[in-house]
Amino acid sequence: MKRRNVVLAAGVGVAATCLPSLAAVGLPLVEVFKSPTCGCCGAWVDHLKAAGFPVKVVEVEDTSTARRKHGLPDKYASCHTGIVTRYVVEGHVPAIEVKKLLALKPSAIGIAVPGMPLGSPGMEMGDDKDPYDVLLIDKRGRATVFARYTKH
Ligand code: CU
Ligand code: CU
Repeated sequence: MKRRNVVLAAGVGVAATCLPSLAAVGLPLVEVFKSPTCGCCGAWVDHLKAAGFPVKVVEVEDTSTARRKHGLPDKYASCHTGIVTRYVVEGHVPAIEVKKLLALKPSAIGIAVPGMPLGSPGMEMGDDKDPYDVLLIDKRGRATVFARYTKH
C-alpha cells in the first residue's frame, strides 16, 4: 500500500512537469468509437475537447470491434473506445489521466474505466458519485490501479 502511494505520487510529479511541454506542442488526436445513440459518450467527447484534445468521432454500432482490434480484453469494457497514439482509452476516463498516460508513456495497452461509474466525466448525475479506479492494462491484459477516484 505504501509503495503504491509512492509510485502514484511520483507519477503525478512527472505529469506535472511534462504537461506544459505537451500542451505547447499540442495534444494528439483521440479517435473515439461510439454508438450514434450514446448520450454519455458525447458528453465524454465534450469533456476531452474542453481539456484541449482534438477528437475524431467514429460512429459504430458495436464498439467491441475497435476494442478487440487494439487488444483490450472485454472484461474492461465500457460504452466507448478511444485510441490516442498507440494507447486504448476505454470508457469514462478523466482527461487528466489521458494526459498523464501520454506523459508517462508506460508499456501498456492503455487505460480503462470499466462500466459507467456515476460521477465520472460524461456520467455526471447531480451529486451522485460512485468511487472508481482508472486501470492501467499491461500488454498481457493485467490491470493495476493508475488512479483512484473516491466519492469526495
Ligand atoms: Cu457511457
Ligand atoms: Cu460512452
